[in-house]
Amino acid sequence: MMLEVRDLVTAYGQSLVIQGISLDVTTGEVVCLLGRNGAGKTTTLRSIMGLTPPRAGRVIFKGKEITGRQPFEIARLGVGYAPDDRRIFPDLTVEENLEIVRRVTGREGRWTVERVYQLFPLLPGLRGNRGIGLSGGEQKMLAIGRALMGNPTLLILDEPSEGLSPLMVHTLVEAIRQIRQEGVTLLLADQNLKFARRVADRGYIIEKGTIRYSGRLDDLWADQEIVRKYLAV
Ligand SMILES: Nc1ncnc2c1ncn2[C@@H]1O[C@H](COP(=O)(O)OP(=O)(O)O)[C@@H](O)[C@H]1O
Ligand SMILES: [Mg+2]
Repeated sequence: MMLEVRDLVTAYGQSLVIQGISLDVTTGEVVCLLGRNGAGKTTTLRSIMGLTPPRAGRVIFKGKEITGRQPFEIARLGVGYAPDDRRIFPDLTVEENLEIVRRVTGREGRWTVERVYQLFPLLPGLRGNRGIGLSGGEQKMLAIGRALMGNPTLLILDEPSEGLSPLMVHTLVEAIRQIRQEGVTLLLADQNLKFARRVADRGYIIEKGTIRYSGRLDDLWADQEIVRKYLAV
């Protein structure tokens, strides 16, 4: 098992946002958290990463409890994270944004700047451009590439398809398939079931901080009642 989340409870002040979520990600899988805006997807991922520590529950990564650890420790153990707001360094170039990760996580491995450029063919032409001038889609690709530079065994992506053009979504789907072929396990959060079906095997629907559905995405797609109830756009 790559990741086990057990009875996770997370609050912002008095407001209980995650109300006892449990989920599993098996080694080699691509799993997607689905749910409308405000459902609790980002907070779940932030709790796993230690950015918003949970009030209760456990997070177990490769058999080892990581609940409440510092984000940099969790990254060093091999969990990569591309947040929904991307956090690209605006004054660094594309290439510097990628290079800096190796120094921070200190995890040697197979991912290099050149391999990230192969995955996202849009990036090499921008290698000397500063982060501040990139489009939203370009920043998304760079944020995923940057997370890969830490050589994660588990890669967590928050809303990877959000705001991407159809062509960029195609690139992203291909990239995720290749990342998986390299042996990286993925946990995504996304609102777009059509996109999720192209890359993920299994998923969970979150609503009001609770899991409402768990299963294969093809089965979910066939159940339009659930889709309308929890996901409809
Ligand atoms: N920093 C914060 N402070 C207070 N409430 C927050 C904060 N971030 C998110 N929330 C609230 O927590 C709930 C879940 O949000 P979030 O995890 O971002 O959902 P999602 O990623 O599914 O859109 C929402 O009601 C949101 O308003
Ligand atoms: Mg979110």
